[in-house]
Amino acid sequence: MDSLNPAARSCVIDRTSRARQKQQRPCVVWFTGLSGAGKSTLSGLVDRRLFELGHHTYLLDGDHLRRGLNRDLGFTDADRAENIRRAAEVACLMADAGLIVLAAFISPFRAERRLVRELLPAGEFVEIFVDAPLAVAEQRDPKGLYRKARRGELKQFTGIDSPYEPPEAPDLRIPTDRLTEEQGRDAVLALLARRGIIRAPAP
Ligand SMILES: Nc1ncnc2c1ncn2[C@@H]1O[C@H](COP(=O)(O)OP(=O)(O)OP(=O)(O)O)[C@@H](O)[C@H]1O
Ligand SMILES: [Mg+2]
Repeated sequence: MDSLNPAARSCVIDRTSRARQKQQRPCVVWFTGLSGAGKSTLSGLVDRRLFELGHHTYLLDGDHLRRGLNRDLGFTDADRAENIRRAAEVACLMADAGLIVLAAFISPFRAERRLVRELLPAGEFVEIFVDAPLAVAEQRDPKGLYRKARRGELKQFTGIDSPYEPPEAPDLRIPTDRLTEEQGRDAVLALLARRGIIRAPAP
């Protein structure tokens, strides 16, 4: 930044100005949990409601990134770490642009999730543990992946032959085996309101 000449520096708009223009506090709401726990479902519902409330948001979903930016990556521990590193960098750029970013990634390792938190200013990383027991997630099996993993057709599948490290102190835990999808959505919105990221939603 210091090497920029004064004219160039005057063109640099900082993140606070961008956020102020959007009248919101940017942040990254990170949904972690087993496959089938409900990350895409829940983040999609939160995204829709935030959009309806007039917020500028973007939803980053693991499946989408793996079809594009991260299509060269597999599921070894190293590739999973790189998958999350790239997702985190993209999420941070979007938060810099003033957006409320919703990120839905299994992100099984605590160390990677901690790295994402450390990339962001204090208070701008909100970790949501989308929690369903393995048996429930496996029974839902929305993409048929558990069946494949159990047949041995899919290796290194989280919860089967690759570990999932639950968050020790998530900002919020949503037990999706006990709450409806709408109750889960509303719990996330209430947290964002308590943190001053959005105005309190109407009852
Ligand atoms: N309370 C709940 N909250 C969220 N999803 C629920 C709930 N109850 C049932 N479900 C169902 O569980 C399934 C969750 O699938 P979803 O694709 O959201 O999981 P995911 O965590 O994104 O998995 P993956 O990591 O494989 O992408 C959906 O079919 C959803 O309708
Ligand atoms: Mg998903």
